[in-house]
Amino acid sequence: MILLVNGPNLNLLGEREPAVYGSATLADVERLVRDTCAAAGVEVTAFQSNSEGALLDFLQQHRKMAKGLILNPGAFTHTSYALHDCLKALAFPKVEVHISNVHAREEWRHRSVLAPAMDGQVVGLGVLGYRLAAEYLLSKIAGR
Ligand code: DQA
Repeated sequence: MILLVNGPNLNLLGEREPAVYGSATLADVERLVRDTCAAAGVEVTAFQSNSEGALLDFLQQHRKMAKGLILNPGAFTHTSYALHDCLKALAFPKVEVHISNVHAREEWRHRSVLAPAMDGQVVGLGVLGYRLAAEYLLSKIAGR
């Protein structure tokens, strides 16, 4: 099972700053990842929260059964040492996704305090980044 976790304000995808984040909704993103993983027979458990504590609780609760994590941490990317520490405690592969190209935006978005705890990042490729992250995790799960 792969975890698909979205942080604050990503429940507003589709209506939030469409020039930056596009028109796909969170339901579209979840469908995209589920379809990608279903083709490989892998289930997806999706979760979104605006609360840092709820994200931490979800990740901790699933730490034993998950085989991989796709995480768009929203603005917690730039601030959350608590999420960094939690991610370090997860033994499976982890990919950070940003829909927008954070490096072409405000300076405070350039730094991810989570990146050192992740396998890698997909940045600026729109919601396609979630599918690419899923494909990476599926290849790791298949031992490729
Ligand atoms: C984001 C980029 C973050 O800087 C921002 O706070 C978000 C979304 C992205 O997907 O591009 O909420 O993670």
